[in-house]
Amino acid sequence: MTEAILLVGGRGTRLRPLTVHTPKPMVPAAGVPFLTHQLARARAAGVDHIVLATSYLAEVFEPYFGDGSALGLHLEYVTEEEPLGTGGAIRNVASRLHSGPDEPVLIFNGDILTGLDIRALVHTHETTAADVSLHLTKVTDPRAYGLVPTDETGRVTAFLEKPQTPEEIVTDQINAGAYVFRRSVIDTIPAGRPVSVERETFPGLLSAGAHLQGMVDSTYWLDLGTPAAFVRGSADLVLGRAPSPAVPGRCGDRLVLPTASVASDAKLTGGTVVGEGAFVGEGARIFGSTLLSGAVVEPGAVITDSLLGARSRVGERSILTGAVIGDGAVIGADNELRDGVRVWCDARIPAGAVRFSSDQ
Ligand code: GDD
Ligand code: MG
Repeated sequence: MTEAILLVGGRGTRLRPLTVHTPKPMVPAAGVPFLTHQLARARAAGVDHIVLATSYLAEVFEPYFGDGSALGLHLEYVTEEEPLGTGGAIRNVASRLHSGPDEPVLIFNGDILTGLDIRALVHTHETTAADVSLHLTKVTDPRAYGLVPTDETGRVTAFLEKPQTPEEIVTDQINAGAYVFRRSVIDTIPAGRPVSVERETFPGLLSAGAHLQGMVDSTYWLDLGTPAAFVRGSADLVLGRAPSPAVPGRCGDRLVLPTASVASDAKLTGGTVVGEGAFVGEGARIFGSTLLSGAVVEPGAVITDSLLGARSRVGERSILTGAVIGDGAVIGADNELRDGVRVWCDARIPAGAVRFSSDQ
């Protein structure tokens, strides 16, 4: 059995307004808080003890997941008084680990949806006798990530977090947000101050000659840090493209939670989720979108690739494409919202107030 640390203390700034009342890992994806998928996948890979490193809105995790026994896990929670950054958060939970100095400890960013073979990452770590092993994935635009070039044996040669200049873009391999640390390496991270594992720990270990091993894996991978990615990830879970043992229902075109109500002629496709107590009116068409609990879509609305917050409301015939509607916001009838628009929690847009396409 292996143990793991989950980093769940970030502010989720890019995901606002979804993260105004809810920390990013607790925003529902495919009907359950996103973190549930990560916990269930770790459990399926043989992890039994997980320490959650919390900071922003820390108080909501434990009431929901408790001691973890419902998921077959032993969960612990550690809250930073001031955010300690990714490396500081790892160091801050070290006293809760049971592993011996040479044993492997898994560490996960709390916003990654992936089909990573977790056991294979631990296996790579053990067979290469690395100090730290990193899951790497290839992306077309690596600028928003940590770049991780490797040599022909997979050994990491540099770590460049969020490159600023074209010269720094030396590879399309990025840090995919899952690591195995030799336990004793965690103890070398300075305690009691903010540390970025990406900007300080990894470059420092490399310049000290430590062995960092990369494992490139081309399975499903998505960082759910932006609204568009979050909606995509939720739909991919429902469609079965992203693997998770925690989807509450059969995979398919749609997931309608038992307490939701959907008009018989409404059309739900593309991995749409209708959350607890949510309502979809007659003739509405919803594609690849997520309705959180208590959201209301009135008759004839057309919603594509959008996320509707808890208790939000979309009026009759409104057309939403790539929109995020905050908790409790109300969009009146006959509006047209597009392309990354984010409507804040409890905002009200009157009927017929916003449109994009020209009138015929
Ligand atoms: N406890 C705690 N304290 N957790 C934190 C803190 C903190 O101060 N800051 C961030 N986290 C958590 C976040 O909640 C998230 O789960 C994880 O650390 C990574 O933070 P993000 O804010 O999502 O970072 P990112 O997406 O910009 O970049 C990271 O992930 C990329 C892959 O998606 C980096 O690790 C990149 O190198 C990587 O490529
Ligand atoms: Mg992220």
